[in-house]
Amino acid sequence: MDEKRTVRDGYDAIADDYAAQRTLDGRGTDLVRAFAADLPEGRVLDAGCGGGVPASAVLAERHDVVGMDLSAEQLGHLRENVPAAAPVAGDLTDLPFSAGAFDGLASLFAVIHVPRERHGDVFAEFNRVLRPGGEALVVVGSDAWEGRNPDWLDTGTEMFWSFYGPERNRDLLRDAGFTVEREELVNDELGGDFLFVRVTAEGE
Ligand SMILES: C[S@@+](CC[C@H](N)C(=O)[O-])C[C@H]1O[C@@H](n2cnc3c(N)ncnc32)[C@H](O)[C@@H]1O
Repeated sequence: MDEKRTVRDGYDAIADDYAAQRTLDGRGTDLVRAFAADLPEGRVLDAGCGGGVPASAVLAERHDVVGMDLSAEQLGHLRENVPAAAPVAGDLTDLPFSAGAFDGLASLFAVIHVPRERHGDVFAEFNRVLRPGGEALVVVGSDAWEGRNPDWLDTGTEMFWSFYGPERNRDLLRDAGFTVEREELVNDELGGDFLFVRVTAEGE
């Protein structure tokens, strides 16, 4: 099965199991809170929002949030968890928004599901939909890896991941028009170490 179908069908199948394990605890949520506090009020995209925990939920306290995801079932959870967020179906490689539509953007644990040769395209899309000077919080890989797990979260459902290591991620973000401000390694509650990267869209 191609990667996109594996990911979309996989999240449609396990959305309930994923929601049961995704919490508002942990360092990742702290970083979302810090990002939300720094971000002026405005319109924010949660790209690959899943069920909206933690990013949409935290951001919606003070911002107008649009949550976008490939999986209809994940968007169903977003509707329940964060009624204030506007759910939109879409793909990270071809965002269904106009240029400069957002003041900020968060994307947690989503780019890592796109084949890594397309990560530059995803970052270019993030840059396009942000206004100049807009800020983003993006989760990327901490070590290069690509592969599948046939039984993710003990659900019997296959999942696919693909990512580069820190240097390549930084290069791709800069090539897409971002200034890399800071990054932090976070051990995620669902397993694995990932980099939370804060970037600013150049041009202001
Ligand atoms: C690991 S979950 C993360 C969800 C949420 N951001 C969180 O922090 O828990 C990855 C999400 O990214 C979505 N996703 C993966 N590839 C995508 C793509 N190409 N376009 C849009 N969403 C995608 C999946 O459907 C899934 O909901």
